[in-house]
Amino acid sequence: MSADERRVRLELDGPVATITIDREKALNALDARTIDELEEVVAQLAASREARGAILTGGGEKAFVAGADLKQLAEVRRQGGGRDLARRGQAVLRSIEALRKPVIACVNGFALGGGLELALACHLRYATSRAKVGLPEVGLGLIPGYGGTQRLPRLVGRGLATELVLTGDPIDAAEALRIGLVNRVFEGKAEMLEAAAKTLRTIAGRGPRAIGLALEALDRGADRDLRDALEVEADLFGQACNDEESGEGVAAFLEKRPPAFKV
Ligand code: CAA
Repeated sequence: MSADERRVRLELDGPVATITIDREKALNALDARTIDELEEVVAQLAASREARGAILTGGGEKAFVAGADLKQLAEVRRQGGGRDLARRGQAVLRSIEALRKPVIACVNGFALGGGLELALACHLRYATSRAKVGLPEVGLGLIPGYGGTQRLPRLVGRGLATELVLTGDPIDAAEALRIGLVNRVFEGKAEMLEAAAKTLRTIAGRGPRAIGLALEALDRGADRDLRDALEVEADLFGQACNDEESGEGVAAFLEKRPPAFKV
């Protein structure tokens, strides 16, 4: 398949990679092929020595991702394939969350249903001021199936998540920022992408193995009680301490020089 036929593009360019869901005519809706291609590029990102993190955004100005592809969903439900569709999308989104490199969702416009769920599986979320985010599935007689009922309450609390899931009404970027659903809001897409690249370059200057271990601690601790989660943290802190990377980081501090971390 030639690059311009692809629905998901990966640009590997130094430490900051960019993943673009590129199906503008359907507002970047996630059909099965898009999900397959997303899985491929996540694996490429994981394997890349050069890329230390990624921006994930939608092609064009109007939408990040307008959800699961409803034309395909109509067929899937006729065939009784709803559960499989949810499991497949969940697995691919989980592969993003489980990456040991940070991914910043750059929400340029609509992030609805599976689109918001994709953003929720990323490690950070930035948005443009015109973004609209929500889980409209109940208006279709459906419920969120790509993790929305589980990740949204973990991020913003159960009360706010319940309201968003049950009304199906989208919220704007200012409200998303207020409730902590997005980290930062920008006037336009270019400004947002530049800020995300800057954040990723900052992270790329830190110890690469420490970044991986920090993501692992945040991920593995999220679903445990505090006692178990602290054990996970202590184990991973021990791994960091035993790594030559922290030898370099601490020595550099004591010698008043910048660290020279190895990738
Ligand atoms: N699936 C397939 N095609 C979609 C789509 C989707 N989720 N969302 C938009 N499109 C297509 C439209 O069909 C339209 O294509 P045509 O020109 O060929 O008809 C094109 O994108 C442009 O869309 P609109 O004309 O509707 O644009 P608009 O500006 O009037 O409205 C919108 C924009 C409010 C985002 C509207 O498109 C919309 O409500 N989309 C559906 C959003 C939605 O319900 N998402 C949840 C899907 S279910 C889900 O995601 C389940 C899950 O958890 C896994």
